[in-house]
Amino acid sequence: MTRVFSGVKPTGHLTLGNYLGAMRQWAGVDQHRADALFCIVDLHALTVAHDPARVRRLSRQSASLLLAAGLDPELCTVFVQSHVDEHARLSYLLECVATDGEMRRMIQYKEKAVRERERGGSVRLSLLTYPVLMAADILAYGTEEVPVGDDQAQHVELARDLAVRFNQRYGHTFVVPRATLPTVAARVMNLQEPTSKMGKSDDTGPGIVYLLDEPEVVRKKVMRAVTDSGRDVVYDRQERPGLANLLEILAACTGGNPAALSGVYESYGSLKKDTAEAVVEVLRPLQKKHKELCADPGYVEGVLREGAERAREMARPTVDAAYRAIGLLPPVPETVVSAVR
Ligand code: AMP
Ligand code: TRP
Repeated sequence: MTRVFSGVKPTGHLTLGNYLGAMRQWAGVDQHRADALFCIVDLHALTVAHDPARVRRLSRQSASLLLAAGLDPELCTVFVQSHVDEHARLSYLLECVATDGEMRRMIQYKEKAVRERERGGSVRLSLLTYPVLMAADILAYGTEEVPVGDDQAQHVELARDLAVRFNQRYGHTFVVPRATLPTVAARVMNLQEPTSKMGKSDDTGPGIVYLLDEPEVVRKKVMRAVTDSGRDVVYDRQERPGLANLLEILAACTGGNPAALSGVYESYGSLKKDTAEAVVEVLRPLQKKHKELCADPGYVEGVLREGAERAREMARPTVDAAYRAIGLLPPVPETVVSAVR
């Protein structure tokens, strides 16, 4: 069976972008057709200024939202990254294969580093090396496919490059992965700034639909979405990004096609109204399930504990093989030592 791995960072409340761009695909398709792992990548949440209690809270919440979105622990492995040491262990080896130039070329690094500096903060070294840890997440599991939104394509490309380079230098150790992107809603845009991604850690609350927003809040945010000047409803990502975003969200929620849907609407108002209702309907079952899971925190903890155990078993052989291949002396087991004595 195909091995699939993907992750979500507990840096903010999960958004409609996370759901349409990634989680829905994981729950609806990937877990059924593949041997899939989904990870709350908490180590990645430490790459920018963070509040420890908030990271813990968001990690728990992300886990219950993944389950609420339909991930089934009978079908896939759901776990927290820091519970499995293999990720950090492998990351160091990959740092010895990656170059600093490669890291500095990463678009997300460049954007985030500028933002951190503008806020008067310093840039953590881990922000620069983050894509290497992400590559370790992926390569530790012999991953073939990485279902992500469009913003992560460059990082998955790096994981490919590192796998190929490691294999060439030290012998075949890693499967070479590839990104799989959704056909619609690979990049859901901020409703207030339709030229930037709807990202969960951004400050522009009114432009972001959170998965736990009440229906009234969702309606308000969608109805107030920035649209473009003009009156006709056409699908044009370049020239009419606000409108295109709404059409894509509606298409993703209803299973339609954004270009075809543009022909159905004569006014922005009716498009917004239908989009708002479609989003409310998509979120309704997820919110109901989330409420049930919150009433049973022991269940979520159990899922994460078992998930980490399974993940550890899966990752260890590959990471051990990488340690041997790169030239590190394997530790001698205790039983052998006592036999020699
Ligand atoms: P993150 O929020 O960065 O942890 O992302 C978790 C997953 O959601 C990744 O696969 C992202 O590519 C995807 N994702 C995040 N924001 C969006 C968005 N606005 N549109 C589409 N996919 C997204
Ligand atoms: N970097 C990803 C993001 O910001 C999250 C992530 C970390 C990830 N490790 C991963 C995604 C491994 C896929 C596979 O969205």
